Amino acid sequence: MIEINQAAEYIQSKLNNRIPTVGIVLGSGLGRLADEIENPTIIPYADIPNFVKSTAIGHKGNFIAGMLGGKFVIAMQGRFHYYEGYPMNKVTLPIRVMIRLGIQALFVSNAAGGVNFDYRVGDLMIIRDHINLLPNPLIGPNLDEFGPRFPDMTRPYDLNLIRRAEAIAKELNIALQKGVYLASSGPTYETPSEYKYFRLIGADAVGMSTIPEVIVARHADVPVFGMSVITNEAHDDYAEDFKNDGDDVVRAANAAADRMIALFRRLIEQLN
Ligand code: HPA
Repeated sequence: MIEINQAAEYIQSKLNNRIPTVGIVLGSGLGRLADEIENPTIIPYADIPNFVKSTAIGHKGNFIAGMLGGKFVIAMQGRFHYYEGYPMNKVTLPIRVMIRLGIQALFVSNAAGGVNFDYRVGDLMIIRDHINLLPNPLIGPNLDEFGPRFPDMTRPYDLNLIRRAEAIAKELNIALQKGVYLASSGPTYETPSEYKYFRLIGADAVGMSTIPEVIVARHADVPVFGMSVITNEAHDDYAEDFKNDGDDVVRAANAAADRMIALFRRLIEQLN
């Protein structure tokens, strides 16, 4: 708790008492949304008490606070992953800090592999639900100030935000998938049999992040909107000419970033 409050107080001191209404997590290759934030205040993670270093490719390490879609927002340009070796309380610390700062909604994004056969590289997928194969970040003493010991997860992703996003996508002529995101630890990409297994248990896309952040937000009853950019398709067939590669993932996410940014901006505009 002290850790969270110290970090929140430091950031608050940089925001001139303004309260962010939306927190945004920008995944691999999606950090460009932060460039659209007007009058940005940039707060490097390295300057924030109790934050660890962000080491993942395609991830910078800053909070960017400022105006987007007419709202004061705070965005994470880069996130922390379990595979970087950090414990879950460090992976989710920025989310709890944003909750402390007063966000009323959390928008999360990521690059993900498409395990649904209908998905293609460059597709955007609204996350409708998830399957968590990472350790649960709420294991340990419960932070009663944030939420209950046994949080409900009946509606992990906000149905109202999903409906609005679908309406906006129609208006903007943006094609959307809607599916289940599964997170495993990484950092290895999946074997052909693991991709098959994840499809069998109901996943549409797979990644290495996001769910811990969503869990701590839902613990505190903060509504969540999530979006995956499909950066590669699952290969089940031991293809001899294909290889999953982190740089390709970042490139594919970059190419889809404009559509995701347009959608996030409109969705934020429409928030009350
Ligand atoms: N698997 C896991 N994580 C990922 C993938 C994938 O295929 N693509 C992007 N992140």
